[in-house]
Amino acid sequence: MLPQEFLYQLKQANPIDQVMGSYVRLVRAGSLLKCQCPFHSEKTPSCVVYANTQDPHFYCFGCHAGGDVITFLMKIEGLSYMDAVQMLAERAGMQMPQQELDNGEGKRRTRLLELNRAAARWFYEQLTGSDKRGLIYLKERQLKPEIIRKYGLGFAPESWSGLADAMRRLGYTDKELIDANLCSVSKNGTLYDRFRNRVMFPIFDLRGSVIAFGGRTIVPGGEPKYLNSSDTLVFKKGRNLFSMNFAKKSQSKRLILAEGYMDVIAIHQGGFENVVASLGTALTPDQCRLMRQYAEEVVISYDSDAAGQNATLKAVNLLRAAGLRPRILHMHDAKDPDEYIKKFGPGRFRLLLEEADDAVSYELQRCRDGTDPASEDGTITALHRAVSVLADIENELERNVYLSRTAKEYDISPEILNTQVEREIKKRRAGQKKQVWRAVTAAGMMRDPVNPEAASHRKEAKAEEMILCYLFRNPDALEQVLAQIAPEDFVTGLNRRIYAALAEKLTAGYPFSLSLFNDSFSPDEMGHITGIFSKNADITVSEQSVRDCIAVLKDHPQTAVNPESLSDEDFSASFDRLRQKKKSN
Ligand code: GTP
Ligand code: MN
Repeated sequence: MLPQEFLYQLKQANPIDQVMGSYVRLVRAGSLLKCQCPFHSEKTPSCVVYANTQDPHFYCFGCHAGGDVITFLMKIEGLSYMDAVQMLAERAGMQMPQQELDNGEGKRRTRLLELNRAAARWFYEQLTGSDKRGLIYLKERQLKPEIIRKYGLGFAPESWSGLADAMRRLGYTDKELIDANLCSVSKNGTLYDRFRNRVMFPIFDLRGSVIAFGGRTIVPGGEPKYLNSSDTLVFKKGRNLFSMNFAKKSQSKRLILAEGYMDVIAIHQGGFENVVASLGTALTPDQCRLMRQYAEEVVISYDSDAAGQNATLKAVNLLRAAGLRPRILHMHDAKDPDEYIKKFGPGRFRLLLEEADDAVSYELQRCRDGTDPASEDGTITALHRAVSVLADIENELERNVYLSRTAKEYDISPEILNTQVEREIKKRRAGQKKQVWRAVTAAGMMRDPVNPEAASHRKEAKAEEMILCYLFRNPDALEQVLAQIAPEDFVTGLNRRIYAALAEKLTAGYPFSLSLFNDSFSPDEMGHITGIFSKNADITVSEQSVRDCIAVLKDHPQTAVNPESLSDEDFSASFDRLRQKKKSN
């Protein structure tokens, strides 16, 4: 396995549209690029290139070829994986890494992540240690105990070696402490803690692993005010967002983008979980693409000072370039959202959000289009449309704001309107379930030469793909899904291998990317994996659908095994499985 960082740089230096563009003619179709697929003959282009995404890839809806830029080159030039990488490196004038250097990258990542978690736990414990200044500071900033716990906030005390000593006792080496950027070495060679006298903000990735820290001084006038981890093997500042792990759970198509850690936490505490911040640097294109994976719209809530306003302008352009709809929040009489919420409360902040967003207001206004406001029929038609618009708003707080405004506007009781909206939401949920289910049971699935078992197990194969698709988008759900279904329970061979590989890579601490599969799957198999990702791009797979899919696989009769060929352990394990199944029926 090549080092992640090298592969990242390689792909940055070889944009997929440029590389593919030198073999095929790419045409723009809306926000996407398309071409006639070079891997099968066709008249109308059905090969789509997703160039401006977090994980650039191509997928042919005709012949199911797909993958990243490396897969493309392997297929079109008939190269092996390493040769394709070599060719891209030469194209970009990059040095191939020394094979010896990257041995055990997965192991080192796991160690660093474990160390970070242990450090976060230690910082958290220090809040209630003998020196209570951290806890007092957070309380003064009006953070509730629940939110302190949720964000895993902590305290780095005065000591120069408190953390180092505690981590050494747990078996971590000085080198690992330095690699994690938790400690530095002074001129005379002694190791010391970087974070002292600071409240600590752990930074989580999408998997929920602690990848870095930010620390705010609790000493008035202390410099620097915020100290952040530098980049490490497991942390790249510009590619992560603070609180994205929580924001993505809100399932909102809209994100709030704030400037600082404290703003994010104050906004979150105010009831808006869909809030993130960049990590002590200006917003980057990578961060915008990350947001685009989960949202369509971003409300920029930067500080009201000149610096904040300048940053806002830059953010607008970056967000647009990533295909996001930017909105701008206008704040008066407070310098940042944290102060605003403290002064005026979350209700007022909610109003600011509402004012920032013309998308919903615009849609609500359009409900009246072509109806006669004087007639009852016209009003009813408009109201029906409004119910549909309101049901689209996923965040409940936000929905209520628009709901009460609409009720007032149409002069009907908010309770009645709410009943209608709730009914519409329920109806849609049922519909969504059906939609996923239809996909699961779809009889028209193509015969899939890379996964031949799928032909005789259509339903199971589709269920497996839904589970994989869900995990691609929610890698943090891995443990939960693994606890319910093991790779061996997958019915078709290829999907089983994909599931096992995904579990292995994520457990080793790699962030999810299609490219994770490159070195252990053939280009044709990469097409299958990319297809799982691309074909289902428009379906939201809910936790419930995943449970349904797991049930489909659990229902599938275990393939008959010859008891003679099993070891004792295997035999008792399969017996346990059967017994469990009987119990759950
Ligand atoms: P509070 O005073 O704690 O409310 O800070 P704030 O959230 O209002 O932060 P501020 O507007 O001063 O800065 C916004 C963000 O910029 C912070 O969350 C940090 O990520 C970053 N930042 C601020 N000061 C420093 C600094 O001294 N060094 C570095 N590296 N980053 C900083
Ligand atoms: Mn502030």
